[in-house]
Amino acid sequence: MFKVSNQSFIQQEESCLIIGLYDRPLKFERLEELDQAFDGQLTELVKEGDLSAKRNDVALVPSFGNVPAKRLLFVGLGKEKQADVHELKEALGYAFKRSRKLGLTSLAVALDSFVCEQLPAETAAHAFSEAFALATYEFKGYKQASNEPEKQIEQITVYTEADAKETAAALQVGYVMGQGTNSARTLVNTPGNMLTAADLAAYAELLAEKYGFEVEILEKEEMEKLGMGALLAVNQGSAQPPKMITLKYQPKEEWTNVIGLVGKGITFDTGGYSLKTKSGIVGMKTDMGGAAAVLGAMEIIGELKPDQNVVAVIPATDNMISGHAFKPDDVITSMSGKTIEVLNTDAEGRLVLADAVTYAKHHGASCLIDVATLTGGVIVALGTDKTGALTNNEELFEEVLEASFEAGEFIWRLPLTEKDKQRIRSSAIADLNNSPGREGHAIMGGGFIGEFAEGTPWVHLDIAGTADTNQAGALGPAGATGAMVRTLATFVLSRNE
Ligand code: BES
Ligand code: ZN
Ligand code: ZN
Repeated sequence: MFKVSNQSFIQQEESCLIIGLYDRPLKFERLEELDQAFDGQLTELVKEGDLSAKRNDVALVPSFGNVPAKRLLFVGLGKEKQADVHELKEALGYAFKRSRKLGLTSLAVALDSFVCEQLPAETAAHAFSEAFALATYEFKGYKQASNEPEKQIEQITVYTEADAKETAAALQVGYVMGQGTNSARTLVNTPGNMLTAADLAAYAELLAEKYGFEVEILEKEEMEKLGMGALLAVNQGSAQPPKMITLKYQPKEEWTNVIGLVGKGITFDTGGYSLKTKSGIVGMKTDMGGAAAVLGAMEIIGELKPDQNVVAVIPATDNMISGHAFKPDDVITSMSGKTIEVLNTDAEGRLVLADAVTYAKHHGASCLIDVATLTGGVIVALGTDKTGALTNNEELFEEVLEASFEAGEFIWRLPLTEKDKQRIRSSAIADLNNSPGREGHAIMGGGFIGEFAEGTPWVHLDIAGTADTNQAGALGPAGATGAMVRTLATFVLSRNE
């Protein structure tokens, strides 16, 4: 996909050359040679306002033979002093969208035009390839095929004066991050009838085969033996068998210091007997967004092979209604032995995650990060652009927060107090209550999962608001976002000792 060249970009025959334009006092300071080839006409275009360095502005300039490249695609980057890698990705996203419309199969980039004091070539290269993967993502969907195959960009030449090997490595990391995110997007965009628990398990098996992970898929009978009463209760009303999916990545000799990634894998959430409304039920195919985030991160881990043990656990089922379904007032016993009074069958995520967290510990997880489309409450609290977090461990949270900064994904922590925990433990007849009321209910949902983490350092990420979007952006279409894939992967990579 990417080829790095240390040659000057000016004399290259390319169909389209992408060039970054910072708002600097001398606009063509580092692009002088290019402007000269155009007899100063580019400077004129800037003066006239046809070419703008305003952030996210994109302008296509035909070269008319002034240089061998057919056209130049300028992308405005704003003030150099305020350059920020996530803003750079966004600006690049607009450029890729524009270049896609041209129906090209190859592109080139003058990478050094994006480089500035805060953004060295390696950072720019990572941003470039990640933005390319994200911005050009499409969910194929199920419309009857059109006769014309859509052209794809298959080759990108990156011109830079920086070290070619290091640049190529950074391009690879960025691209893998983008691809892992896109895989999660596709899983989330896939409708519930086409992605059952068994399909999710088959997908995990494919990943395991590709990357040499150890894989274990627990069937219903094994879950019964292990006493996974919480996952089994949620599955009771379903025609589809549940699956407890475990992937192990062990680069170390010893199975110690293990990161546990746990993802909610509800392939469709009707709410069960606490039935959702007609409009509330639409979109609930995305209720396996946590599972998708974990699987996307595992793909990145499989590609980049950090020296860090990881176990991924995904409890997978749908949440349906039938004569067999679990009901409000039921009391169930989780794998941990804790009993749970079910007050709301629509609070099913915390139930399946209770057993998954216990099972991840059983598999030796020494810290836990769970990711889940857990509560509507987190959307009320934080909107649709922030992932809500809870924790029982300051240091682990700081590490995850750091990873989220690096990945450019916004997370915000909610409190979890002793009083909150008391409400979760407020059932008159069982150890826990799965729905202590709507007040602070994002905290109630996450805090419930924390009861099963017990003393193990744990961070909870509620992506109910961020897993999908109804608005297309520079870095992806409307639909699934792949939220938290890059944060999880960046966290694991940062632990690479
Ligand atoms: N899957 C939903 C949460 C959700 C809501 C995800 C909206 C994405 C968009 C979850 O299982 C749920 O239904 N939660 C309930 C919990 C309540 C009954 C305590 C909720 O948030 O309303
Ligand atoms: Zn629910
Ligand atoms: Zn749910």
